[in-house]
Amino acid sequence: LENKNLKGKTVIITAGPTREKIDPVRFISNHSSGKMGYALAEESVKQGARVILVSGPVSLSAPQGVELVKVESAEDMYQAVLKYFETADVVIKTAAVADYRPKVTFEHKVKKQAGDTNIELERTNDILFELGQRKTNQLLVGFAAETDHLEEYAKKKLLNKNADMIVANNVKTEGAGFGTDTNIVTLFKRFGEVISLPLMSKNEVAVKIIEEITSLLRDMKTH
Ligand code: PMT
Repeated sequence: LENKNLKGKTVIITAGPTREKIDPVRFISNHSSGKMGYALAEESVKQGARVILVSGPVSLSAPQGVELVKVESAEDMYQAVLKYFETADVVIKTAAVADYRPKVTFEHKVKKQAGDTNIELERTNDILFELGQRKTNQLLVGFAAETDHLEEYAKKKLLNKNADMIVANNVKTEGAGFGTDTNIVTLFKRFGEVISLPLMSKNEVAVKIIEEITSLLRDMKTH
C-alpha cells in the first residue's frame, strides 16, 4: 500500500523565471526552465497534496492534478502567492524571481539611438522574506542559487528569511542549477541539520526534498 505523506496538506510551489518588462517587446529574465519546481509539484501530487503551482513562463506542461496559476512578473508572483498563503501548509519557493525590474515600462517600443543608454532598475518585493514575516504555521522552504560561498549564504538565507529549510544549489557546477535535467543540492534545515545530496535527476531531488518536508511537518506536530 502506498503511503501518501502529504494527504490533506496544501502545498504552494513557485517555479520558473519571472519576466520584467522594459517595453512591449523586451524584458529582463533568467535561465530557469521550471524543471525543478515542476518535479516538486509532481512529487507533491503523488504524495496526496493539493498543489498550487505558481509558475512563470516556461515551456513545460503542468503535472496532472495541480492547480496551475500562471504569472509573469515578480509582482504577479508575489500577489498570487499571497492570495493562497493563508490556506497553505507548505510553501516551496523554487522560482528564480527577479530582484530588480525596470523602474519604467515604456508603452511603446524603445527606438535605438546613437550611443549608449541606461535602464534604471528598482527592487522587487522579496517574496520569501515577506512570507517569513507573515507565517503562522506554514512550513517555508526557500532555494538558494549561488556561485560561491554556498554554505555561508544558504545559512544566512535560512535565518534572514525565517525559513524552515533552504535548498542550495551551486549553479556553476556542471549538472546543477538552471536548465539541466539534474541537480546537486545541499539541504540546510532549521536547527542545523545539513544534508548533502549527490548528482541526481531533478525528479529524484524532488523526492528527497519532499521526504525532508514530510519529516519537518512531523516534527512540527510533535512539538
Ligand atoms: O527551473 P530550473 O531550470 O529547473 O532551475 C532550477 C533553479 C536553479 C531555478 C532552482 O533550483 C533554484 O535555485 N531556484 C532559486 C533561484 C533563485 O532565485 O535563487 P536566489 O538565491 O536568488 O533566491 C533565494 C530565494 O528567494 C529563492 O527561494 C527565491 O524564490 C526567493 N526570492 C528571490 C527574490 C525575490 N524577489 N523573491 C523571492 O522570493
